[in-house]
Amino acid sequence: MEKNKTLLKKSDLERLAAFVKKEFGISFDEQKLSRFAKKIETLMHKHGIEDFNVLYHKVRYGKDEVLLQELINTVTINETYFWREDAQFSILANEILPKIAKTKRNIRILVAPTSSGEELYSIMFAIMEEKKVIERCNVEMVGIDIDSSVIRKAKIGLYTRRSVEKLPKRILEKYFKKVGDYYKLDDFFIQNAKFMQANIFNESLIERLGRFDIIFSRNMLIYFDKAEKKKVFEIFLKLLYPGGYLFLGHADANGIDKTAFKPVRSGFQIYKRV
Ligand SMILES: C[S@@+](CC[C@H](N)C(=O)[O-])C[C@H]1O[C@@H](n2cnc3c(N)ncnc32)[C@H](O)[C@@H]1O
Repeated sequence: MEKNKTLLKKSDLERLAAFVKKEFGISFDEQKLSRFAKKIETLMHKHGIEDFNVLYHKVRYGKDEVLLQELINTVTINETYFWREDAQFSILANEILPKIAKTKRNIRILVAPTSSGEELYSIMFAIMEEKKVIERCNVEMVGIDIDSSVIRKAKIGLYTRRSVEKLPKRILEKYFKKVGDYYKLDDFFIQNAKFMQANIFNESLIERLGRFDIIFSRNMLIYFDKAEKKKVFEIFLKLLYPGGYLFLGHADANGIDKTAFKPVRSGFQIYKRV
């Protein structure tokens, strides 16, 4: 067989890609589609499925949850690392949390998407370093992601050198133990964070998660088209308490509803829900 040549028909792949886009917001250009093809073939092989239509029907109509989750896990882009876009963490710990803590004792923070936990744990480190906040309030941390494999990793808390290399040395030494080539996060953080697999487009998210004072949503919206972004901003509006804060990644804010979210710090992609 010719290398890189896929056995799947382009029209079949496009059909599956359209389903993934509709259900999970994840879209494909030509280049991504050919990489997708290889992954789908591997998935079919693993499950002993020879006919593409069988796979399609199982995930689309058959409600085969295991296969569907594996399909999702193959198409997500999980790139993340500790201390990414860290300027927002110090604004959170030094300015925003102390402000909220003046009137509230229990503060809830959602990280959506969390990927393998690096961002959520970085937020916890920043808060821990700011003693005044810790003394005054309880902060509950919740992380969600559509990919079940990264949620599993977040709950284990074992990271590579590459993942921790942007962390200040002081924090790395304080909160991690070196285990062979890996860095094991202190159990305190793992036990005080909640992670769950969830699709941001899921209608029942608000019943499942409740409302939050702060949402971090960084580096996911860039992959969504205009209509999907609009839907997600509407969901954030429901998930945030009035006056709550939304932290976005540097390329995520395009298309934000400016009547519902007002920028609080220009240049930092931090918004306040009206
Ligand atoms: C590039 S990572 C960003 C992780 C982290 N927020 C950061 O900035 O480092 C994007 C994550 O979005 C998740 N994702 C994509 N579509 C999603 C959806 N519909 N619902 C929830 N998570 C989703 C992917 O699984 C992936 O882990």
